[in-house]
Amino acid sequence: MRVLSGIQPTGRFHWGNYFGAIRQYIQLQHEHDGYYFIADLHALNTVRDAASLRDHVLDAAIDLLALGLDPKKATLFVQSEVPEVCQLCWLLMTGTPMGLLERCHAYKDKKAKGLNASAGLFTYPVLMAADILAYDANWVPVGEDQLQHIEVCRDLARSFNAHYGEVFMIPEGKIVEGAAKVPGIDGEKMSKSYDNTLAIFEDPKAQRKKIMRIATDSRPMDQPKEPEGDTLFDLLKLVGTPTEVDEVAAIDRRGQFGYGDIKKRLADASERYFAEARDRRAALEQNSEFVLQVLAEGADRARQVAAKVLYRAQQACGTLRAASS
Ligand code: TRP
Repeated sequence: MRVLSGIQPTGRFHWGNYFGAIRQYIQLQHEHDGYYFIADLHALNTVRDAASLRDHVLDAAIDLLALGLDPKKATLFVQSEVPEVCQLCWLLMTGTPMGLLERCHAYKDKKAKGLNASAGLFTYPVLMAADILAYDANWVPVGEDQLQHIEVCRDLARSFNAHYGEVFMIPEGKIVEGAAKVPGIDGEKMSKSYDNTLAIFEDPKAQRKKIMRIATDSRPMDQPKEPEGDTLFDLLKLVGTPTEVDEVAAIDRRGQFGYGDIKKRLADASERYFAEARDRRAALEQNSEFVLQVLAEGADRARQVAAKVLYRAQQACGTLRAASS
């Protein structure tokens, strides 16, 4: 089974990205043929500074490798290094009804806010369809917010096949299993747009300060409370050992505790949880040649697959003269 997913390099990855998706993607490399790419062409819709985009792409690659993505098991590459995807995107675009894209939420939400959307944002689901179809992916693990885009991909593939003949594999979308709902330091969903994130590879001291500022419950501290749903507890559950988690649950239920103590435990647990990955990251940072090599080999492998799919599509729709026999 070929599993494929794309990750936008829009800034440093945070706990929401990790516990909600990246951790699961990396896990899947052990049982499946994993194709993971850094979606820089999608990021162009928001990152409009060349140096930042370059940094984000390299950082994303280093982060993924540090977190355990194994280039011997999975194929890691940068989206723009497979130009076949853009060619395929155009072939799909000509068969895409405007109405289908008008219903897609990324565009719809922006328009509802009275903001001007670019053609890039409007057609983003078509590029995403090309991302998936170019590699004959069987399934695409995604967050809930991306399911609509997978449906668009399936629609486009089915109608292309119906019109031109069987060219594309029809992929399945699947919500990632075990995705945790990660609260941000203000208790809302962790998200870059709310500026409430804990980055995975943040300086531990800076992170400790942030953790100390986490918004806590307004109930008096001596009042017993249920741990579930409490921001500190929900974050500790992600990085703490089972014993630590049980201890804090007991403290919460007993009451008579200080949030400072729990915050300190959370900061310690976080430092420990990401320590190994942090060391690996430091080593990778010193070895950018290796990282670039991994991306080059990944792109090579990905291009070979994409070229075949593109060829099939071109043959089917008539943009290539028939192959000389
Ligand atoms: N749109 C996805 C996101 O914002 C990223 C992405 C781009 C993707 N192309 C993809 C995910 C193809 C899965 C498959 O998270």
